[in-house]
Amino acid sequence: MTTCPYQYLFIYEIAGEITLGPPLDLKNYLGCWREGECSYLFFTCKMDLALKAFIGEDQSERYLSETVINYEDWEAGYPLKPRSIAGFYLCPTWEPCETPPGEHLIWIDPGVAFGSGYHPTTKMCLELINEVYKREYLPRVLDLGTGTGILALACVARGAAQVLAVDHNNLAIGTAIKNVQYNRQEHCITLICDDVLKYCGTPADLALANIYYGAVRDLLDQDSFLDKKWYILSGLMGTEVDKVLTQMKTMPLEPEIILDDNFWFAVLARHL
Ligand SMILES: C[S@@+](CC[C@H](N)C(=O)[O-])C[C@H]1O[C@@H](n2cnc3c(N)ncnc32)[C@H](O)[C@@H]1O
Repeated sequence: MTTCPYQYLFIYEIAGEITLGPPLDLKNYLGCWREGECSYLFFTCKMDLALKAFIGEDQSERYLSETVINYEDWEAGYPLKPRSIAGFYLCPTWEPCETPPGEHLIWIDPGVAFGSGYHPTTKMCLELINEVYKREYLPRVLDLGTGTGILALACVARGAAQVLAVDHNNLAIGTAIKNVQYNRQEHCITLICDDVLKYCGTPADLALANIYYGAVRDLLDQDSFLDKKWYILSGLMGTEVDKVLTQMKTMPLEPEIILDDNFWFAVLARHL
């Protein structure tokens, strides 16, 4: 395939949980996001009538809305194209690939999960992964909030032998599984659909957490999280980074690099 498989996203908001199946045609189904009391179903074509029929007239009030958006708008207005970031060549799975010399190829199909590589928080993590692997070989990685699996794949590209990648979002894990397969890294990346707090004590040389401030703060509050050699913490906005740096002062962690990009911050920290 040489064209992006997604032109428009059709997003359906349904009250409560829903399990799709026959007679619904799932050929164009991307996945489901659960958020609060609703399920958000993503399709690549219009499905309003089919979904209403699937839900049934007796439960018709569960069908709340249909939103149609351009896939480029979902990806912050960027068409997904091959691009180089910090020595990684991110190539959409549908594009021809010409990896520049010396760069590490990562095939990526973000679908509707977070982690195409375009967001500043992901870009900064890729830069910090590049930086930390220049300093030291880190075989065991814990990727908390893996999204598409992009950071796990970047670490493997830099030589990591074993990555445990966790995300509580089913859709993200489904997308990450596909990306791990595209890159043929099933033997070294294990994906788990669960809360990051349950896995933060997993032994690792490098912990990655590109999540959001509250999740990073909660991770740093866990003693079992504080035994890694290196940390890359991202998803921090504005003054949130100061709060994280203040929290670190009470811990055996030393911030080594702080990057910022458009109001977002990422920190590389080392265990003392
Ligand atoms: C900002 S995205 C980062 C994705 C990818 N690692 C990247 O750098 O582009 C954060 C991810 O963390 C996941 N997440 C947020 N809170 C979580 C939690 N408590 N447990 C597990 N996953 C979580 C979200 O579902 C989302 O996929």
